[in-house]
Amino acid sequence: MLALASFTAVSAWAFSIGQMTTNGRTNPLGIAADDISFSWAITADARGVEQSAYQLRVGTKEGEDDVWNSGTVTSDRQVDVELPATIRLLPATRYFWQVRNWDGKGMASEWSKPSWFETGLLSAADWRGAKWIAHSVPAATSGEKAEAHSSLPLLRGVVLFTKEVKRARLYVSAKGLYQLSINDRKIGDQYLAPGWTDYRKRIQAQTYDVTPFLQTGKNSIGAELGDGWFRGKVGIGWRNVYGNSLAMIAKLRVTYVDGSTQDFATDASWRSAEGPFVQADLQDGESYDARLEQPGWNRADFDDSHWSPVVVQQDDLGTLVPQPDEPVRATEVLKARTRTMPAPGEYVYDLGQNMVGIARVRLTGKAGQRIQLRYAEELYRQGDQRGRLYTDNLRTAKATDTYTFAGDETVVYQPTFTQHGFRYVEITGLDTPPETADVQGVVLGSDLPQIGDLTLSNPMLDQLVRNIHWGQRGNFLSIPTDTPARDERMGWTGDINVFAPTASRYADTRAFLTKWMDDMRDAQHADGNIPAVVPQPRGEFDQTGVGWSDAFITVPYAVWRSTGDARIVRRNWNAMSRFYAFVYDSATHDGNLLEEGRSSWFSGDWLNLEGVDRLAEHRVIATAYFAEDTRMMAEMALAMGEVRQATIWATLVPKIHSAFVAAYRNPDGTIYMGTQTVYAMTLAMGLIDDPVQREQTAAKFVEKLAVDHYHLKTGFLGTPWLLPALTSIGRNDLAMRILLNEDYPSWGFEIRMGATTMWERWNSIRANGEFGPVDMNSFNHYAYGAVGDWMFEHLGGLQALAPGYKHSRIAPLTEPGGLSWSRCSQRTPYGLLTSDWKRTNGELKLSINVPANTTAEVVIPAKSAEAVREEDVLASTAVGVKESTFKDGHLTLFVGSGHYEFTSPY
Ligand code: BGC
Repeated sequence: MLALASFTAVSAWAFSIGQMTTNGRTNPLGIAADDISFSWAITADARGVEQSAYQLRVGTKEGEDDVWNSGTVTSDRQVDVELPATIRLLPATRYFWQVRNWDGKGMASEWSKPSWFETGLLSAADWRGAKWIAHSVPAATSGEKAEAHSSLPLLRGVVLFTKEVKRARLYVSAKGLYQLSINDRKIGDQYLAPGWTDYRKRIQAQTYDVTPFLQTGKNSIGAELGDGWFRGKVGIGWRNVYGNSLAMIAKLRVTYVDGSTQDFATDASWRSAEGPFVQADLQDGESYDARLEQPGWNRADFDDSHWSPVVVQQDDLGTLVPQPDEPVRATEVLKARTRTMPAPGEYVYDLGQNMVGIARVRLTGKAGQRIQLRYAEELYRQGDQRGRLYTDNLRTAKATDTYTFAGDETVVYQPTFTQHGFRYVEITGLDTPPETADVQGVVLGSDLPQIGDLTLSNPMLDQLVRNIHWGQRGNFLSIPTDTPARDERMGWTGDINVFAPTASRYADTRAFLTKWMDDMRDAQHADGNIPAVVPQPRGEFDQTGVGWSDAFITVPYAVWRSTGDARIVRRNWNAMSRFYAFVYDSATHDGNLLEEGRSSWFSGDWLNLEGVDRLAEHRVIATAYFAEDTRMMAEMALAMGEVRQATIWATLVPKIHSAFVAAYRNPDGTIYMGTQTVYAMTLAMGLIDDPVQREQTAAKFVEKLAVDHYHLKTGFLGTPWLLPALTSIGRNDLAMRILLNEDYPSWGFEIRMGATTMWERWNSIRANGEFGPVDMNSFNHYAYGAVGDWMFEHLGGLQALAPGYKHSRIAPLTEPGGLSWSRCSQRTPYGLLTSDWKRTNGELKLSINVPANTTAEVVIPAKSAEAVREEDVLASTAVGVKESTFKDGHLTLFVGSGHYEFTSPY
């Protein structure tokens, strides 16, 4: 008995706690303190592991609970455990937290290893003493001036420590972009800080641990500034949107070995001069003149007597907020694969991948020689331009960097204050071109944790999975953008509305999209509506309609559904409710439940191929969205504990459905306007509640697809619903058929034409190699990548039945349909969820992993219940399997956590 008891104890203890996050991030440095929420995952070897209780402690030292001790909480909750709002946290302070939990059998784990978060400067009072400082001669906005004008500023300040420094933090922000260094060493691994927000309302500050950079005695802190979003080109070539004077602010807090602290800050003692960045613009590119470098300018002993005193701006410090999400970082470096010379002196390097970032090139030249780098997503494929850069689609974005040599030398040049969308780099102005190996692409993007992968036996579909991911990596850059290349690059709400569920498959979107929701709140109109683009520069694209502004509901919903973390909803609940009230009033003010307003040029099924009147079709889509918004709000209201409101909205949903059916479903089952999109939305959103009516409409949808030769015609709003609609009516065969097409129009066509990202249009390149309409033709637009969610769900087989995959369904489409195997994994907040199957020698093998404290429904095609085995036992009797049912050639098992290996002969 004793031996058995201790054995049970040992096996029950065999789990460990990991994936500890604060506000969706691991050990975040410099966050706000008002809304802290914790999550953790349990890893266990045993099956059916559950958490019956937890205890969490937060302290100012590892292992302590001087801030908060939750006590033992009987709960299976592991995601979004809030620090009570009554607990006041201090600015500029590191907090440690640990958790332990009890399994279903009452055994307690050890305390987890400590995780931490550190607060930044939280209010204007915390910044006190720091001043916004600027160069005395403001450089003219890049591009608007002749190059003879002053160049971009360098600023430096000197600080002196008489005692040994134990710990130091630097809090920094800029109006513009900054690159920071101390004693000539670059600080941080971020790019393009402080990121894009509506600078009139909120400017993000970053926190750096600069302890290793400081020395006793004199230290020099320096910053180089660029135009960035603050006053460079944003949107359709708009300049000076937030101001025209570049400035920075910084505060250094030092803790000495003797325990005392001291603050230093930007003030009138700083000095400034013009530096080697002649101009720098995100869209147009950067010009760097090495002859203007001031060697040693950021060393403590530099003589800056010829520099001018900075100008102190009397600006409010109240707009400064700690950056809540992951910074933009270099996430990968690609090597050029080939070099060609399509015209004399014009060298073109191919990185093999349409990417977003900057080039890194090794150049050899002579003093005063100026070389030029140009960037493009595509090359001309035909005619006398063949092989040269195709840049017409970049519109006014010049996407050109220049470098001027200071001496006869070899240098490695990598622009600092710009960002391009490109696969090809053209270099001109050199006698000897760099070797292929001397040209690289530095991939930049907000550095979200990558959590999902899907590998497929079909190479075209596998490429599609990767293209979608590249579209996300490139367009998640401080904000979610439409395109990273042409002069637009804005936070189009419609694009992320359709893409958020897919994005949340690949990456943990919690921090990034929660930050963007803050931008949305900043942009919200008094009537509750949301503009078409967020942040919204200069009041442009202010009015919008269905499918765009709805992102204010669908984006937090997607994040919450995929992570089970309701923080993004809680934080925005009032503002979302105001937006929903606007939607509700718009639909109901004329006495019915049909939405006939909320239409604008920027709404409806954008870029579809049906050739119908988009605004007429819009009416159907508008009411469909009203129903969806209401359903989502009802579900989220429950998560917010607003049961009464949830019931009101849940009761409204079928009423909207009835109104929809009465207005737009004809007695023969067809849907008004008859486009693929109206059918797809009707069926996938479940807008017809009567099963017979639904079946008739499903048949009409299939007829419509037959007329279209089983090729898609959907635009931005319809595409995400197309394959889900077919799945919902039991026609996965047709879903696969459409997905596997490789002729126009299809996803496969893009890939056959060489796409490595998602195109904006189905015909961005035509079959004959001509480019689509030049005024709007990006090769990196993620909207059509919204199919990724369906691919993860049905080809990968992983579906969240409850938020965060607390309960999931594992049901990959293993039956003939173009695939012989697939491997899918998602690191959910609860841990790793996987499905890995293959068909060989008459047998289907399926291995799965279900995270601890979650359950899954596993669906396996089988000849009979008895034919399915898990390792060497009957699957239905395996440890961890709680229930099983066999129906229509499928065995469905209800399983607890753990790793399982199933086999089923077919
Ligand atoms: C953008 C889109 C956007 C659309 C709205 C385009 O110019 O690139 O992605 O959603 O306008 O109309």
